[in-house]
Amino acid sequence: MVIIEEIAALKTLLQAKRRMGQTIGLVPTMGYLHEGHLSLVDHAKAHADVIVMSIFVNPLQFGPNEDFERYPRDVKRDTALAERAGVDVLFMPSIREMYPQQQWVTVAVTGMSDVLCGKSRPGHFDGVATVVMKLLNIVRPDSAYFGQKDAQQVAIIRQMAVDLNLDVEIVACPIVREPSGLAMSSRNVYLSDAEREAATVLHTSLQRAALLVNAGEKDISRILSQVTEMIQAQPRAQIDYVEVVDAATLQPVEVVAQTSLLALAVYFGKTRLIDNCRLEPS
Ligand code: PAJ
Repeated sequence: MVIIEEIAALKTLLQAKRRMGQTIGLVPTMGYLHEGHLSLVDHAKAHADVIVMSIFVNPLQFGPNEDFERYPRDVKRDTALAERAGVDVLFMPSIREMYPQQQWVTVAVTGMSDVLCGKSRPGHFDGVATVVMKLLNIVRPDSAYFGQKDAQQVAIIRQMAVDLNLDVEIVACPIVREPSGLAMSSRNVYLSDAEREAATVLHTSLQRAALLVNAGEKDISRILSQVTEMIQAQPRAQIDYVEVVDAATLQPVEVVAQTSLLALAVYFGKTRLIDNCRLEPS
């Protein structure tokens, strides 16, 4: 595995690979790697010849009161995990390398960014779209891999690729969970043992919703009230939102359809966790 910190060096290396006819897959991350991130590498390996993983904690996507400073970082461990997973090129730029001067031009997301997580995180998805756009332009991959765990993020990136005519295939990969059902996340380290245990209610409540839909329930308010009640019964949980939206446009839907996404964000103590599932009526 090659470790690269500079954009110019990365471009030179990848140009040579491209000339040899090799395809490139990009897995963008903010590090503190877990099985969820590594599953993206597996998916990438199935499609592309050269796997580039980026690790960059992107200041542009953190709000002023968010956890940029204390976001978990462990370069040594990440390097070992990436190598073991089969990453070919690990790109770990500094903030200076990615943002050498004030960023005068950024990507602005409209409509899809002020719903769900965007409501409580103004500017977050502009920051995500901007850094992903930069990474796509630096790496110029044939395909890029994102987790369905961040359903809003992958929907926005997909739309960005369509709207801005990007020449890349955006691949959404399934959510990887702990044996308890808790969706893996770098932020799970913030949870106390009791909060971690309590947070399993998220997956249980999503499963309940899926069961209801399987049994023929199409009424979204009934599904939402069941999910909400289950979560509220857990005293450590504080709901930010529980919503059903169209998975592609993220706009609210009236009745359950094949494209419906049940998405939620819930606080456990100070830690905000997200999770989601597709509702698939039979
Ligand atoms: P980060 O939170 O590090 O996540 C990197 C990628 O891993 C994202 O595509 C995310 O959806 C995916 N991922 C995280 N947990 C997962 C899980 N349990 N199962 C499957 N995939 C999972 O998301 C970001 O970083 C940043 O916003 C980024 C896209 C890198 C831009 O800065």
